[in-house]
Amino acid sequence: MRKPLIKKYVATTMITLLLLGVLSACNTESESSAEQETTERPILVQGPMPIEAEEFAQKLENVTEETSGSFVFYKGTVDDYPVIVAKTGKGMENTAAATAVAIEKYNPRAIINQGTSGGHDPELEVFDIVLGKRTTNTGSLKTVNLNEDEGIKPTEWKPMDLLASEGSAGEDPDAENIRYFEGDSDLLAAANAVKDDYQKGKVVEGTIGSADVWNNEIDRINWFHEKYGTSVEEMEGAAGAQIAQAYDVPFLGIRILSNNKVNGGEYNPNTAEANQEYVYKVVQQYIKNQEKN
Ligand code: 5AD
Repeated sequence: MRKPLIKKYVATTMITLLLLGVLSACNTESESSAEQETTERPILVQGPMPIEAEEFAQKLENVTEETSGSFVFYKGTVDDYPVIVAKTGKGMENTAAATAVAIEKYNPRAIINQGTSGGHDPELEVFDIVLGKRTTNTGSLKTVNLNEDEGIKPTEWKPMDLLASEGSAGEDPDAENIRYFEGDSDLLAAANAVKDDYQKGKVVEGTIGSADVWNNEIDRINWFHEKYGTSVEEMEGAAGAQIAQAYDVPFLGIRILSNNKVNGGEYNPNTAEANQEYVYKVVQQYIKNQEKN
């Protein structure tokens, strides 16, 4: 009578130990992948409008959605690497805030700010893409001194660099310079490496000008093109670049022309999707390059 009971006891103990072993192995596995997840810093891809972010978000795998204020973050993976798409909303303020929030929350290793833009360069057609070798804030200006009834002279306004010093920008002559934010060289290298895959237009390096302004005066556009060297204008890039620089996070603006006033290029909203398809390839290439290093 006693023997089978002992046998049963031994068998139960062995099964329990075996199960515990399996469980603890699972545990270490999930622990190490959780560790990996926290050490792999995501790539952040920003788009202002739904048509400029949702196409990319749909390409992500394993997506979860988080919001902060009005900003939507789609957290997922591309080729098993963590990528977050941020729908920031339009304009400099939204972009600056969404960039700071994302850096604080997700600690990205790189930021791509992408979307549509208007051409300043007559050589660029709708569907061409500009890689922001430089990005600059074209809304940061100091006017000349004029008295009452002397009018306004926008072509004499001077660029104003708000990062020149901590003192008054109004009094500081060092602030009368154009501030350019340099595009990150590794992001640029990835973008250049896949530019031949883009068939809908050409991909060139250039200067992206940003402000909460939509310019339709050709003389004013030409003024920026000549004075600042702008290839395109939009309303976000420089805000993202400035905050990325404040946190020392690599940054690149990638902008497709959806319109070009200087050569009659009509607005085409389908450009937003084309840009996201290209930026997806840039992200894949960047991940590949990083894995090699
Ligand atoms: N001027 C300014 N912003 C433009 N955008 C597209 N074309 C232009 C243009 N010509 C983008 C901005 C903003 C939205 C209005 O479209 O970046 O997100």
